[in-house]
Parts: sequence; structure tokens; C-alpha cells
Amino acid sequence: MIRFFENYPLKNYNTFGIEANARTFFEFTEPEDLAVFLNSNHSWKNQRLIVLGQGSNILFLDDFEGLVIHPKVPGIKTVGEDRSFYRIEVGAGEVWDEFVDFCVTYNLGGVENLSLIPGNVGAAPVQNIGAYGQEVCSVVERVKGFDLETLQMAEYSVDECKFAYRDSIFKSYLKNRFIITSVVFRLGKFPEFNLKYGFLEEKVKEKGKVSLKTIREAVIEIRNSKLPAVKNLGNAGSFFKNPAVEMAVADRLLNEFGDVPVYPAGDEKAKLAAGWLIEQAGWKGRREGNVGVHKDQALVIVNYGGATGKEVWDFSEHILQSVFEKFGVLLEREVNCI
Ligand code: EPU
Repeated sequence: MIRFFENYPLKNYNTFGIEANARTFFEFTEPEDLAVFLNSNHSWKNQRLIVLGQGSNILFLDDFEGLVIHPKVPGIKTVGEDRSFYRIEVGAGEVWDEFVDFCVTYNLGGVENLSLIPGNVGAAPVQNIGAYGQEVCSVVERVKGFDLETLQMAEYSVDECKFAYRDSIFKSYLKNRFIITSVVFRLGKFPEFNLKYGFLEEKVKEKGKVSLKTIREAVIEIRNSKLPAVKNLGNAGSFFKNPAVEMAVADRLLNEFGDVPVYPAGDEKAKLAAGWLIEQAGWKGRREGNVGVHKDQALVIVNYGGATGKEVWDFSEHILQSVFEKFGVLLEREVNCI
């Protein structure tokens, strides 16, 4: 199935709920249809192009004067197995959390800590989604899609994806050049539980036996208690990344501020909790017009209704400046601002 629209409203395609229109919008369910569309109509080459799933990590600053590609490829199928793992290929258009639910139901391990992350499966490898000590890169085997330079389907193995913290080749070299159509995951038949993060273990044990199901339930409870549901309050999850800084910077902050949360990040670097920095700079729960910092999680910027992308951007700029003035640390936005 394909659908094509002009001047198409994107309000339902970004979890911030920002009103913006796309000049053109193309939706497809079969990878072959995408190839036919792009090979037969070259006008897209003169426009900007973005790929949009549920839009859970995007901020539209204005109307988008270009082509939006919306992959709706469905399907979850087993494509191989060995003694320890199943290989499952999942269409880019499947809802991420429904896939996690499927895995937990069939006792396939490796994604349970990533429960309730918004977005579609095709978006998961792009920013290497992660939460509660798990990152999707540990279960991705390969990523399939369409390359706009060669106009052909192509595949990237996990090593070629260059995964890092909230990063991959799809955000750098292949940005706006590669349209992910499916992801092949390698999921454990004998799951190893990952309960190291914060008080997850405690929360799971309160439920009795440790299992994929109880981990999923615990993660859902923790997320629901801290993160606003996008259907109630527009947002895009963490607006900023947790910054990696030189060890010397972390030492200076520890000396000056005592209890700043610092995590080792390899290469003589340390990662700081951006949520803590923002909260200490006085932003948690603060509102300016239609935009604010969430009351329970300072990394999340929310749209109280009717905010424009520009308003959200300006607000995030104020936070950046204020954190820099107080701590000398420059935060980086995690959300893709277009
Ligand atoms: N903190 C504060 N104030 C806040 C938020 C956090 O002081 O408002 C402190 C906490 O007390 C804790 C530390 O910061 O000491 C870390 O907090 P938390 O465990 O809640 O995680 P986070 O660093 O705030 C990251 C991810 C989340 C993910 C959680 C759980 C990033 C940018 N964010 O948040 O991911 O759910 O860990 O693993 O890495 C997302 O990417 O959209 C997202 C929600």
C-alpha cells in the first residue's frame, strides 16, 4: 500500500504535538513500493527529505518544505534460530512497545528493559534507544533499508551500524540517506536478566519471581511514575543527552557541588546526569508560556498545548545557557530539531 499527500499536517506524527505541515508526505507498507516510487519520480531529489515514524524524537521548528517518508512496513517473523537465540525480523512500522510485549510473551530476552519507549521499530536503531541498563544495539543483528544514493536496498550488520550512546551511523553518515525498512534482532532463548540499574532490582523483586514479565511490569511502573504520557502532555522523552565530560570537569563539579551524579564513560571521561544539572539550575517544573520542564523528570520538556516549535527551541536555549553559566557544561540536544 502506498499513499501520497501534499501539504500534509504533521501534528499526529510528532509526539510533541506541534502543528506543522509537510509539503509532501509518502507512506508505504512494502519496501518494493518505496523503491518504485523513488526510482520513478526524481522530483524528491530537489527537496529536503526526512524519515518519520511516530515522531517521538523530533521537534518541528517550522513547516517542513520537503518530502516526509513514513515507513509503515508491518510484520514480526522468525528468520532463523540456533541453540541460544532466535532471529526475528521486524518491519520498521511496527510499534516498538508492541514488539517488546511480543518478546516478553514468547520469553525472548533482550528488550524487556526497553519497555514503553515510544516510537516505531525502524527508529530504534537510529538513536540506539536505551533505558535501565539496556541498549538496543546489544540485540540488533542487522538493519535493512533503502539507500537513496544507490537507489537500492542495502543491509548493515551490527558492527557497521557504529552504535554508541544515543548514536549510530544512521544519525551521521547515513542521515537522510538511508530509509530503514526492517530490523533483524537476535533474542535470547535463555534470557539473562539485567537488573543493575538504580532500584530496578528492588522493584522487580517486590513482584515475586524475576522474569521478563516482572521486569517489563517494573520498568513500565517506573517510567509511568517519572515520564509524562505523550497522549496527555506533548513531549519527546529526554530533550538533552547526558553529557560526557573530561574527568577533570567531573572532579571540579564534585568538589564544588558534592552530590553530582557521575558515571564512568571510558576514555578518561565521565558522564553527568543532565537531569540533575537542569534541576539544580532551578528548572524542574518551571513553565514559560506553553512550554515547561516536567515536574518529575528535568530532562523532559513538555508542551502544555499550543506551543510552537520555535517556543520549545527558545526555552531549551534558556536551559542550555543557564546550565552553562552555573556548571560550565554545555548540554547537547538529544531531540532532532528540524
Ligand atoms: N536526576 C535528577 N533530576 C531529574 C532527573 C534525574 O537529579 O529531574 C538524577 C537522578 O536522581 C539520578 C540521575 O539523574 O541520579 C539519573 O536519572 P535517571 O535514572 O532517571 O535517568 P536519566 O539520566 O535522567 C536516562 C535516559 C532515559 C532513560 C533513563 C533510564 C538519557 C538522555 N536519558 O535518563 O531515556 O529512560 O536514563 O535508563 O540518556 C529518553 O532517551 O528519552 C529517555 C527517557
